Amino acid sequence: MLDALPARHRPEPACEPAIVVSHARLAPTIFRLVLHAPHIAASAQAGQFVMISVPEAAGRAVQLPRPMAIHRRHRDAGDIEVIYNVQGPGTDALSRAQEGSTLLIVGPLGRGFDIPGTATSLLLIGRGIGICSFMTLVEDAADAAIATTAVLSARTADRVIGRSDCAQLGAKAIPVTDSDGSSSVEALDRTLTEEFAGRPPGGIVVCGSQRLTELAMNLSSQWQVPLQVSLEAHMACGLGYCHGCAIPYAGDSFREGPLVCHDGPVFAVRGNRAAA
Ligand SMILES: Cc1cc2nc3c(=O)[nH]c(=O)nc-3n(C[C@H](O)[C@H](O)[C@H](O)COP(=O)(O)OP(=O)(O)OC[C@H]3O[C@@H](n4cnc5c(N)ncnc54)[C@H](O)[C@@H]3O)c2cc1C
Ligand code: FES
Repeated sequence: MLDALPARHRPEPACEPAIVVSHARLAPTIFRLVLHAPHIAASAQAGQFVMISVPEAAGRAVQLPRPMAIHRRHRDAGDIEVIYNVQGPGTDALSRAQEGSTLLIVGPLGRGFDIPGTATSLLLIGRGIGICSFMTLVEDAADAAIATTAVLSARTADRVIGRSDCAQLGAKAIPVTDSDGSSSVEALDRTLTEEFAGRPPGGIVVCGSQRLTELAMNLSSQWQVPLQVSLEAHMACGLGYCHGCAIPYAGDSFREGPLVCHDGPVFAVRGNRAAA
């Protein structure tokens, strides 16, 4: 069961023409994009995202902006970082954006994470590009002296995202991969049960995999700690207007559930089923 997190003040989104400060390939299909966007860098809350309008590439226009998590905020420089995987035409065109060019971005958007008031430690579990949804939470936890352990799951070692960010922010990273079997639910369950034996974290966050969400739900009920999940959905506007990102209610497809772009992307998970 998914619950919208309680309402709270959110920064006003703005449309910013953002200069591409740097744009580098991290793995064959994964890119790190640094954008100069001072309003968004200064105001974005952990777990929020931006909509990026993608420029025409190879004569093909990309009609809708693409949602991307804010992976890091560099407030002194006024920059944000986005890490993305080339998935289809939009991200393919984005991968051609040149340093020094300008991309139109709207943000910060969505309802981000809440750090439980009593938490002195957090467990974050991410798979692939889903890891990008929670690195801003690692930033906030570091500022609040909250110990963070981040599971960084990927198919292969070269696709693991976030190792250097965790090192920079003083978070413990547990990289796991399909290629060595360490990312299987059973192996990870053993690793985390051992890691947190006798001292469970004050909260769990998960993103990027249904299997890992189910593992996180089991751990959260075993340890009796709150769980938040960051979801993805196809988005046309990102602003709560088009209702294209509504989560269907389980068992009642005529009833519109919460909007991922406005009520989420971060939701509290209650009970043992990840459905609205
Ligand atoms: C809040 C939010 C944050 C996101 N953050 C990131 C990020 O930090 N880095 C990143 O790489 N991606 C992120 N995404 C996903 C990203 O927006 C999509 O991969 C991108 O829009 C794909 O566009 P495209 O034109 O390249 O591919 P499309 O042609 O649009 O899609 C290619 C394939 O991917 C599938 N797909 C596309 N978008 C989604 C989606 N949102 N969920 C599930 N399947 C999808 C399509 O069904 C299709 O099979 C995020 C999505 C959301 C909603
Ligand atoms: S994407 Fe338009 S309402 Fe969510």
